[in-house]
Amino acid sequence: MKITVLTLFPEMYDGFLNSSIIKRIIDKGLAEIKVVNIRDYSFDKHRHVDDTPYGGGAGMLMKVDVVHAALLDNISNDYTYAILTSPKARPLKQEDLERLSKLDEFVIICGHYEGIDYRIEKYVDEKVSIGDYVLTGGELPSMVIIDGILRLLDEGISSESLKEESYTDGLLEYPQYTRPVEYNGDKVPEVLQNGNHKEIRRYNLKMALKETMLNRPDLLDKRELSEEERQLISEIINEI
Ligand SMILES: C[S@@+](CC[C@H](N)C(=O)[O-])C[C@H]1O[C@@H](n2cnc3c(N)ncnc32)[C@H](O)[C@@H]1O
Repeated sequence: MKITVLTLFPEMYDGFLNSSIIKRIIDKGLAEIKVVNIRDYSFDKHRHVDDTPYGGGAGMLMKVDVVHAALLDNISNDYTYAILTSPKARPLKQEDLERLSKLDEFVIICGHYEGIDYRIEKYVDEKVSIGDYVLTGGELPSMVIIDGILRLLDEGISSESLKEESYTDGLLEYPQYTRPVEYNGDKVPEVLQNGNHKEIRRYNLKMALKETMLNRPDLLDKRELSEEERQLISEIINEI
């Protein structure tokens, strides 16, 4: 997979691309990430990339001609998918990351300041927001998108573990524990220590349902519950 990021602040990616799992995925050749400075596409000698908005208003807007020139120079063909980071979109979900992880190549455009001239929207395939709040720029959102996609490509993470993680199967992940078996009086549940896989599976499903009920009940509204899940939910309700 090849991902190109268009940004005014390429230095922000240094630590991100050179650490931990992301570095390992890149080193393994599973992904190639190119970070391009939009300022290199400025048309004037002072390397301006922004200007005041028509009609007034606070702040500066990134210029459509500069950003579009950067985009055109960094798509290898008409099919290269272009993503615009923007708070004006439906917030990103795990299923979006799964869909985007199947692309061979895409470009992510990072806005900054007050954003980018509206006309840039004509040249992108999709706008992506990482949540209902406004950040100073698209750099962190682009890293969120890249991080979420790259970990799906990682052969180091088993497909079984990806399947059980929060959101993948429409539920939040069940609580997990490691050593010590007791900490400040809190013990690892007995059932997880007994090695009975059938009991462990049922217990983890029940705990995943409970986590979801307590933290994100809206996810359960959308779920078609199996008979076993219905039973476990009644048990949870009786225990609360
Ligand atoms: C300060 S924001 C612009 C906000 C814009 N004036 C508005 O009110 O909708 C600058 C840039 O940060 C990025 N950005 C900010 N918040 C974001 C979010 N929640 N998701 C994705 N991108 C975001 C976008 O690239 C945006 O163009």
